[in-house]
Amino acid sequence: MQPDFWLERWARGETGFHLPTVNPHLQRHWPAFGLLPGARVLVPLAGKSVDLAWLRAQGCMVTAVELSRHAADSLFADLGETPQRTRTADFEVFEVPGLRFFVGDFFRMTPALAGPLDAVYDRAALIALPANLRPAYAAQLTSLQRAGTRSLLVALEYPPTQMNGPPFTVTAAEIAALFGASHTLEELACEDILDAEPRFRARGVTQLVERVFALRRRD
Ligand SMILES: C[S@@+](CC[C@H](N)C(=O)[O-])C[C@H]1O[C@@H](n2cnc3c(N)ncnc32)[C@H](O)[C@@H]1O
Repeated sequence: MQPDFWLERWARGETGFHLPTVNPHLQRHWPAFGLLPGARVLVPLAGKSVDLAWLRAQGCMVTAVELSRHAADSLFADLGETPQRTRTADFEVFEVPGLRFFVGDFFRMTPALAGPLDAVYDRAALIALPANLRPAYAAQLTSLQRAGTRSLLVALEYPPTQMNGPPFTVTAAEIAALFGASHTLEELACEDILDAEPRFRARGVTQLVERVFALRRRD
C-alpha cells in the first residue's frame, strides 16, 4: 500500500478500521505482560486509536507512529490536550505526558528515536500491509526491539479469494514465518467474528477469524 492510499483515506474520513472503544483483547491480555509503571510501549501504524489512551492510563510511556497528520490532530482533539510539537529529519512529533506521536513513515523509525522498548501493540498494523511489505515490516519491528520485548498482535484471517485487503488476511503460519526466528510465539485467542463484522460479509467474506498472539523477543 502506498502512503498516498492511506493519506487519501484519512483526508476523505474513510477510517472504518477505527474502533470507538478499547480493544477487548488488549484489556484482557495486556496485564499478563506484567509491565512496570513507565514501561515503554510502541504502537506502530497507530491511527487515532483509543487504545493509545488506554495504554497511557495503565502507566505506559507510549510511542505511536502513524503516517497521517489528520490522525494526530483528531487524536489530540479527542484527548482535549495540546501537544508540544517538534521535528526530526523524518517525523513531526506531537508530545503530551505519557504519549509521543510520530507522524511519518514507520519504516523510517529508528531504535534511537523509539528508545528501549518493553512492549509493542499491533492491532490492524501488520494486516494493513500487503504481503510484499510484511517481511520488511516484521524486520523493522524486530530491529526496534530488544531481548525480552513483549508484543501483543491482533490479526485477521479469511479466505484470500473472497476479498482484497486492507485489511489483508494473515495466517498463523505466516506470522510464525515472519517472527518465529526472532521471537517466541503463543496464540492467545482464536475467535470467529463474522457475525460481528457485517462490513466483511457485505464484501463477500464467509469466514472471518481473529487471532491474538503474544510474542517475546528472544535473548
Ligand atoms: C488499518 S489502520 C489501523 C490503525 C490503528 N492501529 C487502529 O487499530 O485503529 C492502519 C494505519 O496505518 C497507517 N499506516 C500505513 N502505512 C504506514 C506507514 N508506512 N507508516 C506509518 N503509518 C502507516 C495508516 O495511515 C492507517 O492509519
